[in-house]
Amino acid sequence: MIGPTPSPATPPRVTPQAAAVPLSSGASLPAYEAKLTVAINVVADIVIARQHGRKLTLHTGCSSGESTLVATVISELARNVLLYAKGGEITVEKTRDAAQQIPLHGIRIACRDKGPGIADIPRVLQGGYSTSGGLGLGLSGVRKIVDEFDIETGVGKGTTVTVTKWLR
Ligand SMILES: Nc1ncnc2c1ncn2[C@@H]1O[C@H](COP(=O)(O)OP(=O)(O)O)[C@@H](O)[C@H]1O
Ligand SMILES: [Mg+2]
Repeated sequence: MIGPTPSPATPPRVTPQAAAVPLSSGASLPAYEAKLTVAINVVADIVIARQHGRKLTLHTGCSSGESTLVATVISELARNVLLYAKGGEITVEKTRDAAQQIPLHGIRIACRDKGPGIADIPRVLQGGYSTSGGLGLGLSGVRKIVDEFDIETGVGKGTTVTVTKWLR
């Protein structure tokens, strides 16, 4: 037989899937995905965001109680987006506080919508105020759970809530 030895087959390239797949279709999340933005349009999207938050939190080695708190924060923020703004998006990512002597792991959650905005923030953050007949404890509860809380909102301007929970 004459001719060059065939070169070994090139190994298949594995390209990580971008996170922008329609997650509500039930696609599973790759374990390495440390930052995920989920468009919130249906209840199933909230479930995906919540699961991601829980998984990221558990990866840092913290207690399941803390991961439940993170999941609760994600649910409350995403439910508000769906209910009051008819949709938006939520980003859930791992973060570290490098300024600490032993850097802290944390989870940062940013929830954005282009809905009607919130007119009276102090009233909402006090708790017990709801325009939907709810308990009105969502945002005030989130604020108690997290370590850093920021809200940007204005009537007709939408709402962005950004929070960080440090995991100890
Ligand atoms: N993303 C949002 N866009 C517009 N209004 C919001 C949003 N999130 C919360 N609100 C307003 O703040 C109120 C309090 O929210 P929350 O504390 O989550 O309690 P609840 O959802 O039970 O009413 C809501 O009833 C609503 O009027
Ligand atoms: Mg709520």
